[in-house]
Amino acid sequence: MARILITSAIPYINGIKHLGNLVGSQLPADLFARYMRQRGHEVMFICATDEHGTPAELAAAKTGEEVADYCARMHDVQAELARGFRLSFDHFGRSSSQRNHKLTQHFAGKLAENGYIEEVTEKQVYSKADGRFLPDRYIEGTCPNCGYDKARGDQCENCTKQLDPTDLIDPRSAISGSTDLEVRETKHLYLRQSALKDRLDAWIDSKTDWPVLTTSIAKKWLHDGDGLQDRGITRDLHWGVPVRKGEEDWPGMEGKVFYVWFDAPIEYIAATAEWADAHGLDEAAWRRWWREDEGAGDVRYVQFMGKDNVPFHTLSFPATIMGSGEPWKLVDYIKSFNYLNYAGGQFSTSQGRGVFMDQALEILPADYWRWWLLSHAPENSDSEFTWENFQVSVNKDLADVLGNFVSRVTKFCRSKFGEEVPAGGENGPAERALIEELTTRIRAYEGHMEAMEIRKAAGELRAIWVAGNEYLQSAAPWSTFKTDTEAAAAQVRLALNLIRLYAVLSRPFIPDASAALMTAMQTGDDSWPDDVPAALAALPAGHAFTVPDVTFRKIADEERAEWEAKFAGTRG
Ligand code: 2FM
Ligand code: ZN
Repeated sequence: MARILITSAIPYINGIKHLGNLVGSQLPADLFARYMRQRGHEVMFICATDEHGTPAELAAAKTGEEVADYCARMHDVQAELARGFRLSFDHFGRSSSQRNHKLTQHFAGKLAENGYIEEVTEKQVYSKADGRFLPDRYIEGTCPNCGYDKARGDQCENCTKQLDPTDLIDPRSAISGSTDLEVRETKHLYLRQSALKDRLDAWIDSKTDWPVLTTSIAKKWLHDGDGLQDRGITRDLHWGVPVRKGEEDWPGMEGKVFYVWFDAPIEYIAATAEWADAHGLDEAAWRRWWREDEGAGDVRYVQFMGKDNVPFHTLSFPATIMGSGEPWKLVDYIKSFNYLNYAGGQFSTSQGRGVFMDQALEILPADYWRWWLLSHAPENSDSEFTWENFQVSVNKDLADVLGNFVSRVTKFCRSKFGEEVPAGGENGPAERALIEELTTRIRAYEGHMEAMEIRKAAGELRAIWVAGNEYLQSAAPWSTFKTDTEAAAAQVRLALNLIRLYAVLSRPFIPDASAALMTAMQTGDDSWPDDVPAALAALPAGHAFTVPDVTFRKIADEERAEWEAKFAGTRG
């Protein structure tokens, strides 16, 4: 049994996330966490809301709420949607927690002690119309790298380049739209990433098993242009973690807060502490996941995120940890994702384009979405959501293949043998061939799940469902029954056992359907099929079951057209 720490990139607090956000971090992280738990490993799965910075302040200003109230309310909304999608976080924390304040200040203090913080008097954009500095997203303009005209002061959403507000061409205030901007002096702290460049470089080089998407982005930031830049880690804002050096004041930094990207990844650690607090556990309970000197030496730490988050997780956050000089756990594997596009364009939160988590659950239960999103995860390139593709996948994979198998087998058994696993007959060559094929496929499925090759895992699971269907089709117990009831009983017994096996194997992808199948088969035996022949005899003759309700329904053409039209515009 291993110990596996899993974190998903923590979603910004502003607004409900769209399906592109979901499939880029939280959902695949959940798949992996569920699988690893099912295989008997000790898992700590952490997520949180990312509550600081300009996105939160701007969103609160729009609704007229105090930013703290806005964040508390939206955290609950996001937590509820996470439950709706069956995201099995051990803890869904908040980056505005006191735990995160304390830890962020602690890291800053250690970094300063070790000489990795520089105090810089610099020029920042100030808006006379707004009467304030305009850091990060408070300013918008044209990207100097790709020409995108809605680039933000911290990063261009289009080409992922990290920016400084002063880099933008034709800058304007995101609050008032004013272009009456001037540059004023203010003092800030910089994290001296450049001083850690060689260590970061060697560390990335040692990660030969990481996805190319992850390492190529890290390498680009390490070596392109002038190489790794020092990053400003403080801001002239009110909402955030106050700048302190550990427990002490930081002279000259009064009234300033840490930059959201400095405190957000520290929240992975803080959220684990919040988990311990929520369960009345002591410090050791969370530190054994994070401190190499307190038990985390044998933890495997895996992070999930979209590609735009990779620079912060391969460079900035590791720089914070390395620079602290303390034995905090560094990430062991980063699984990163490309973008999911929406029907010929991009999903966009700011423009309300696409399907958002709340809307998705209003249309169909979580499993339908989980299956489509995971089986189309944008792993090797961007992928695209279209209503047609969604309809085809649901109708074929879920309704025709899996759902139909379950329904045919249970109904046929009920009509000929009653609602219990029939006795008599034994496995012949066709059954043995099926078991052999399933054994090969299940071992392949395990390999893909371990490797976080999500599409391949989904493909193998689908093939496992298909194999059962094909067997049933050619064994045709409804025909066999007419001439040889014993042989038909053996076929049906195997098929009923396949339903239980499918419930066990499919659980990480479609947990609700899996639970419904387990209930229908009236079994709590969810042991993993290490021994496939034994797993296919787990429900013995005489074991009672019930015919389940429709496992997955089909999406009709009219419905698809209706949804397509409904989601064609932007969210109102
Ligand atoms: O891109 C985002 O949604 C960020 N809020 C992710 C932060 S991940 C981490 F650093 F905590
Ligand atoms: Zn750009």
